Amino acid sequence: MSRKLVIAGNWKMNNTIDQTRELIHAIKKRGCLTHKVDIVVAPPFTALRAAAKAAGDTSIQVAAQNVFWEESGAYTGEVSPIMIKEAGAKWVIVGHSERRQYFGETDETVNRRLKAALAVDLKVIVCVGEMLEEREAGQTFAVLDRQTTGAFTGVGAADLEQVVIAYEPVWAIGTGKTATADQADEAHAHIRARVAALYTPEAAAAMRILYGGSVKPPNAKELIGREHVDGALIGGASLKAADFCAVITAGLETHA
Ligand code: 13P
Repeated sequence: MSRKLVIAGNWKMNNTIDQTRELIHAIKKRGCLTHKVDIVVAPPFTALRAAAKAAGDTSIQVAAQNVFWEESGAYTGEVSPIMIKEAGAKWVIVGHSERRQYFGETDETVNRRLKAALAVDLKVIVCVGEMLEEREAGQTFAVLDRQTTGAFTGVGAADLEQVVIAYEPVWAIGTGKTATADQADEAHAHIRARVAALYTPEAAAAMRILYGGSVKPPNAKELIGREHVDGALIGGASLKAADFCAVITAGLETHA
């Protein structure tokens, strides 16, 4: 089964509106864009509109980095699914480990965000991944099972096409410590088996699972070349057009 690659840049809390325009123009100029890959950039909420405009009719698709689950109301500081869509997002990231660590995100709130985003036809990148202590304690698979099952509770099989999972081991994020390709592939295979158990083997075979955690041009090819690794969710390296494009090119080479 060949799954379309996804190369996504999570900009985190970086880039003003002007910087967003500059980075997108720089990516466009490098000539790495292609419709063979789902290319996604996730700027801060404030720059979503500018990013969508700068992307124009290229293959760049815009994602928000988070979303609340209610449509509107007294929820100071929150942004609803329809609002991010109106601002130009076609995708949203939910459950990033930084949100779990610093902002009280739980499996239950990830699930609510996922369902609310799907309800307005947003595509969703659901992040899962273990902390260093959990890996060292031999709990990696248990954590991935819990997070995956929790995220997908009540999500119908018909919606799965809209969802991508990102495996991001927390100990590899922003640390320069990448999971080895073997570690990534093993974790992805485990997540895929969990999706098969929750849904069907066919649904699991179609599910795209991205690796995230210190992905950079020199390690991209080896990681994305693995059977169960269907692309990358890139933090730091997505802030440089040359590096982001180099990962897209590396991904394409593995799937040529
Ligand atoms: P880095 O690529 O900077 O390690 O970040 C990974 C990440 O958290 C992407 O969501």
